[in-house]
Amino acid sequence: MDIVIWLHSKLVFVVLIFLALAALNAFWALIGKRSFGTRTLRLTLFALIFYHIQLLIGIASYFVSPYFSAWENGVVAVMKDSTLRLYLVEHPATNILAILPITMGWSLHKKTNADRKKHFRIAIFYGIGLFLILSRIPWNNWP
Ligand code: HEM
Repeated sequence: MDIVIWLHSKLVFVVLIFLALAALNAFWALIGKRSFGTRTLRLTLFALIFYHIQLLIGIASYFVSPYFSAWENGVVAVMKDSTLRLYLVEHPATNILAILPITMGWSLHKKTNADRKKHFRIAIFYGIGLFLILSRIPWNNWP
C-alpha cells in the first residue's frame, strides 16, 4: 500500500503549513489586537481538519509500512534501534498525543467571546501541538 505512505509523506507539507500559519496568525493577531474574523476561523478549522486526516492516514501507514514487520523481532529489538524506535514508537505516539493540545485549542477558543482570549488559546495550544509534531518528524528521511 505505497499510496498510503506516499500520501502520508506528502500531506505533511499541508499539515505543517496550516498549523504554523494558524499558530503564527493567532500570535500576531494577539500582539496586534486584531479581531477574530472569518479568515482566521477558516484557517484554524482547516489546520484542525488536515491534522486529523493526517492522523488517520498515519495510523493506516503504520500497518502497511515495511517498518511494521520489525515487531516480529520483539519489543527490545525495536527499542534498541533508534530508527525503528522513531518510526514505530516515538513518531506515532507523539503525533497521536498532539491531538490533545490541538483539539483543546479548537474547543477552548469556542468557549469565549473575547477575541484576545480566542487568539491566545489558539496560539498556545496549536503552538504546543506543532512543537510536538516537529520534535518527532523523521528529519533524516524527510523531505
Ligand atoms: C499527524 C501528524 C503526522 C505527521 C505530520 C507525520 C509526518 C510523517 C513524516 C514526515 C514521515 C516521513 C515520510 C517519509 O519518509 O517520506 C512519516 C512517516 C511515517 N509515519 Fe507519520 N506523521 C504523522 C502522524 C502519524 C501517525 C499518527 C502515525 C501512526 C500511528 C504515523 C506513522 C508513520 C509511519 C509508520 C511512517 C513510516 C512510513 C514508511 O516510510 O514506511 N504518522 N510521518
